[in-house]
Order: sequence, then structure tokens, then C-alpha cells
Amino acid sequence: MSSDIVAAKDIPTISQLYRSKELRAIANPVVSTPNQKLNDKVCTIQEDITILEVDVIVNAANRSLLGGGGVDGAIHRAAGPKLLKECRTLDGCPTGGAKITDAYDLPSKKIAHAVGPIFDSQAKSEPRLRSCYRKALELAVEHNLKSIAFPAISTGVYGYPSLAAARAATDEVQQFLSEPEGDSLDKVIFCNFLDKDVEAYARHIPSFFPPTKEDLGSEDSSETA
Ligand code: AR6
Repeated sequence: MSSDIVAAKDIPTISQLYRSKELRAIANPVVSTPNQKLNDKVCTIQEDITILEVDVIVNAANRSLLGGGGVDGAIHRAAGPKLLKECRTLDGCPTGGAKITDAYDLPSKKIAHAVGPIFDSQAKSEPRLRSCYRKALELAVEHNLKSIAFPAISTGVYGYPSLAAARAATDEVQQFLSEPEGDSLDKVIFCNFLDKDVEAYARHIPSFFPPTKEDLGSEDSSETA
């Protein structure tokens, strides 16, 4: 991880990571059809999300939207006190929802404050976690923002197991990007901090965004989307 600003164009796509063999198509069940367009949009990086120069970063907030620890604390510290001032005008946000603010001193343009679930059972928590990802993606589209970076929402203080969270997040993002609304997004970045989350995404990305033949360096590329 570096402490300099990281520009969206410098964040590797999963297609590039498959080609450099930094991401491997491990033997997980392949859920989706290989799709070059999506593999050229989706990125995964281990980084402090506050240094990403993207259109919108997502915050893992709580229902008050008034700050806290973890990534929320890091975002408020880096954005400066004007962020809290704007957050006070938002009147909180329900679990599974997201609200957008300016990003003030951060290199990103906007912040989407998403409220993940405190982990209970998978049956109760997964729809709320998926909803956070979808609401943040919808906000990006609505505000004409082209690049969006997510932390691993709910996997810290809120106790959501990393593997299950990564599975829900990659599946929901894959579905959104496959819908017409998803066309307007250029980059969706999974920005992980801890090794456990990096490893969880490395397991699930190949299921939901499997490599195309080009990504694998195969000569026969006729079947790729
Ligand atoms: N950049 C990217 N990811 C980070 C960073 C960072 N700078 N810092 C932490 N993470 P958490 P939650 C990862 O606890 O579980 C707050 O108090 C971290 O490793 O920040 O959704 C809020 O106010 C983990 O993978 O959020 C809420 O009250 C992920 O961010 C509550 O915590 C989320 O961990 C929300 O809990």
C-alpha cells in the first residue's frame, strides 16, 4: 500500500490481473459467463480507500451517518470537518441504504455513505448487504459518476464473515453491471484493506467474473463476449 494518491486509471482491472497471473482462476464453481467488457471494468486492489482518486468512494457507515471507527473514521479524518457538517443535514439512513455527499479534502469527487447490516444470520443479513452495494451503484449512475470504489462493507466492526460478504458483493455487482443501467459505469473497484478480505475476493471474483480466453492468454478467443 502507498500513501500517495492512486488514480483510477492506475488501478488494475481483473483482466490485467488474470493476464499477469496475479489473480488465478482457482477451482471455484464458475457462476457467470466470461465477459471481457465486465473484466475490463472490475478492479481489485489492496489499498487505503481514502487515497483513491475515483469519482465516488463508498463509506461503510452506520445509520446515524455521523461518523465512527474503521473506514468511516478514516474517511471523516481525511475529508475534514465539512463532511460531518453535510452529514448532519442527511437525517441518517436505514440499514441497506446509501446517501451521497461531497468528498471535501479527499481526492475522490463524492462519497456514498452505505449502511451495512450488523451480521446476524446470512438469511437476514445478505439481502441488506446486497442492497448497500446496489444503492451505492444506483447513486453513482444517477450522479453520472463513472468510477466507484467499495470497501468490504460490514466485515469489520459489524462482523460479517469475509468470504460470505465477498460472495454477496461480487454477485450483486456482477448482476448490476449486466443490466442496462450498469453500462454507464467504467470502473467498479473492490478496495480491500486486510489480507482476509483480499483473499475472500480472490476466491469469489473468478466465480462471478471468470477469465475470458484472452485473459488466460489462450490463442482461441472466438467465444469471448
Ligand atoms: N480503506 C479501506 N478499507 C478499510 C479502511 C481503509 N482506510 N479502514 C478499514 N477498512 P469497518 P463495518 C476496512 O469496521 O464492519 C464504523 O464505526 C476494514 O478492514 O470500517 O461496516 C461505522 O461508523 C473492513 O474490511 O465497517 C459503523 O458504526 C471494512 O473496511 C461500523 O463501523 C469495513 O470495516 C460499520 O462497520
